[in-house]
Amino acid sequence: MQILKSISEVLEFRKNCTGSVGFVPTMGALHAGHASLIKKSVEQNDNTIVSIFVNPTQFLPGEDLDKYPRNEVGDTKICELCGASAVFFPDANEMYGKDEPLILAPKELSSSLEGALRPGHFDGVCRVLNKFFNIIRPDRAYFGKKDAQQLTIIQNMVKNFFMNLEIVPCEIVRESDGLALSSRNSYLGDDELCYALKLSRSIMKASNLIKANELNALKIKAAMSECLEPLKVDYVAIVNRNFEPIENVELGNTIILVAAYVGKTRLIDNLWV
Ligand code: PAJ
Repeated sequence: MQILKSISEVLEFRKNCTGSVGFVPTMGALHAGHASLIKKSVEQNDNTIVSIFVNPTQFLPGEDLDKYPRNEVGDTKICELCGASAVFFPDANEMYGKDEPLILAPKELSSSLEGALRPGHFDGVCRVLNKFFNIIRPDRAYFGKKDAQQLTIIQNMVKNFFMNLEIVPCEIVRESDGLALSSRNSYLGDDELCYALKLSRSIMKASNLIKANELNALKIKAAMSECLEPLKVDYVAIVNRNFEPIENVELGNTIILVAAYVGKTRLIDNLWV
């Protein structure tokens, strides 16, 4: 496995790739969720490039850019064990110019939920992914359903800008107790872990209600909110796959989402039904 530190090294590596190229963009502090994306890419492509970059443009002032967990050595090992062909550790100064056109996320998709609470976040995500897609020119790129709105915005961007790659959605990987894996889980103290479980429990509750034929969004959201007490909840939402709020769950076209704070740590979870 090759370690690539500059854009010219990536271009050189890419030039020598034969067959298909899969790309897995990450911000590092890799866990089994990231590993599942890398393994899927390795299965489906002749070459797999993983990027590890805590992208400054997608963090808002006051967010956790500086304290975001970083573990270059451990991450490299995980990429190698998963069978990646190369890992790219970009340099922020090389990635970003001083006066460059802004790439904006689609307005409607990015103005609700995560976008409303983190204005500009998805612009930063689209901006960095544009750069990565241009540098790496992957045939396929892998994204987790864990970041449902991000995945939808990227699918939209790729479609609208006729970008020549396939976006492959990947299932959410969870701990055995249901907690969705996240690099930010490392912020949680032992005493906070049981509170963090309230997110996946609220999602399970929604899933069980739907299985019992309760499709009314207000009723499902009320039951979820009860499960989440006493956490500070940012939102509980039921939307269609275009991220428009809906009154009744439409099987095959619905996403149920939650964002809440456990202490100072903001966690998200969701369910695609
Ligand atoms: P990061 O949070 O590191 O996530 C990288 C990828 O891993 C994303 O596609 C995310 O949805 C996926 N992922 C995270 N936790 C997961 C889990 N428990 N199960 C399955 N997949 C999971 O998302 C980002 O980085 C950044 O915004 C990025 C796309 C790299 C752009 O900077």
